[in-house]
Amino acid sequence: MQILRSVNELRGWSRAAHAAGRIVGLVPTMGALHEGHASLIRAAYGQCGAVVVSIFVNPTQFGPNEDFARYPRAFEADCDLAEHLGADAVFAPRVEEMYPAGAATFVEVDGVGSRLDGASRPGHFRGVATVVTKLLIAAEPDLAFFGQKDAAQVAVLRRMTVDLRLGTEIVVCPIVREADGLALSSRNVYLSADERRQALALSRAIRSVEALFAKGELRAGILIEAAREILFAQTLVRIDYVALVDWNTLEPLEKAAPGALFAVAAWVGTTRLIDNTILG
Ligand code: PAJ
Repeated sequence: MQILRSVNELRGWSRAAHAAGRIVGLVPTMGALHEGHASLIRAAYGQCGAVVVSIFVNPTQFGPNEDFARYPRAFEADCDLAEHLGADAVFAPRVEEMYPAGAATFVEVDGVGSRLDGASRPGHFRGVATVVTKLLIAAEPDLAFFGQKDAAQVAVLRRMTVDLRLGTEIVVCPIVREADGLALSSRNVYLSADERRQALALSRAIRSVEALFAKGELRAGILIEAAREILFAQTLVRIDYVALVDWNTLEPLEKAAPGALFAVAAWVGTTRLIDNTILG
């Protein structure tokens, strides 16, 4: 497996793969890889002849008081896992490679980029859209793989790739969970034992909404209240948002329908976690 450090190396690698007739797949990550990331790499390996995993903790998507400095980093283990899963290359640039001195160009996705996590974390999706645009321009992948775990991120990136005619198809992979339901996240390592127990309220809330919807409950107010009650019962959990939205626009819906996104974000202690389901 090759380790690529510069945009030019990545572009050269991708062009060589294309010249050899391979379908190129990109799996963008911030590292500290877990089974959620692994599922994306496996999907890419299944659908592409050449797979590159990017590992880059992107400073522009973190707010000034967020966890950029202490975000978990595990480069050696990440490379071992990526190679084991069949990745052909890892792209691990330095910050100055992705953001040359004086960098002043950003990608802003109006509307969808300022809803849900975009509302709670101002500037977050601007940072995500900017770095993913840079990655897509550099790697020129046929397919790029993202997790439904970050459903709002998917909505922003779908809008962006269409608007910029980037020509990469966005593939969305299901949420990978621990046996007890907690969605895997690089941030789960921040949780104390008590917080880890109470964090299960997020997946419980999601499951209860799925069950209500399956029984025919469509009213947003009722579904949201059911989820809020489950989260509210936990002393260490503080709700950020609970929302029923159109998955394309992230605009609120009054009535649930198949394909609608039900999403929650909550602080568990000082750790912000998210979870969601696509109804039906
Ligand atoms: P990161 O949080 O490392 O996640 C990388 C990819 O893994 C994302 O597409 C995310 O949705 C997916 N993922 C994370 N946990 C998952 C889980 N439990 N099940 C399925 N997929 C999961 O998302 C980012 O990095 C960054 O914003 C990035 C897109 C790399 C841009 O910097």
